[in-house]
Amino acid sequence: MRRKLIAGNWKMNGSLSGNQALLNGIKEEIGQANCDVAVCVPAPYLAQCRDSLSATLIGWGGQDLSVHESGAYTGEVSASMLRDFGAKYVIVGHSERRSYHGESDDAVAAKTARALRSGLVPIVCVGELLSEREAGQTAAVVGRQLDAVMAVLSADDLANIVIAYEPVWAIGTGKTATPDMAQEVHALLRKRLAAKSPAAAEKVQILYGGSMKPDNAADLLRMADIDGGLIGGAALKASDFLAIIRAAS
Ligand code: G3P
Repeated sequence: MRRKLIAGNWKMNGSLSGNQALLNGIKEEIGQANCDVAVCVPAPYLAQCRDSLSATLIGWGGQDLSVHESGAYTGEVSASMLRDFGAKYVIVGHSERRSYHGESDDAVAAKTARALRSGLVPIVCVGELLSEREAGQTAAVVGRQLDAVMAVLSADDLANIVIAYEPVWAIGTGKTATPDMAQEVHALLRKRLAAKSPAAAEKVQILYGGSMKPDNAADLLRMADIDGGLIGGAALKASDFLAIIRAAS
């Protein structure tokens, strides 16, 4: 039985004071969550998360990392810098990185490998555009995105990633994939993992992301291959985030 993971992706939101109120709200009410919980925050707030969360079971992480370890790469943040601030996770290949920053499947794969080499857990995002879903290409698109990552990882490394299926048309739109639609893609991703490593397929948490909210979380999270959520908007409000954590617990 895989443990569920509820991870917040704050995207480019937050301020020192707002974050503190949010983190305090989560810490005060979380109780004994029976699932893994993390927040992936803008890099400047990693120190705040370390200070605020280190005595809790809530993990924290970045939203991107450089494929390089160090050097003349202005604006980039390396895996070891994330580790310096106690990050456990890093989101890799979010559709906003793929579309606004031109991240290719190969770049996402290289970042995934870099994260693992540095001891971070990469949360690797895959997902189709609306036009691709309508053209019946969902399986081909997410399969291609996952294959690129699998091509650069050993079976042992593969077991240490987290995957997030985020249909692009469901992100921030209020449109959620139905539990059956999401389950179909999650099962397909797990089958693809199994072709390389049955052990990894059994272990890897596959999260759903895309307008997961308190009122749809329980239905999504009860599907066999949905092992948690990568939460955007609802992770910015303590009561919503906590309600999703409860639905997973
Ligand atoms: O990474 C989380 C994400 O893209 C989903 O965002 O706001 O639809 O929950 P949202």
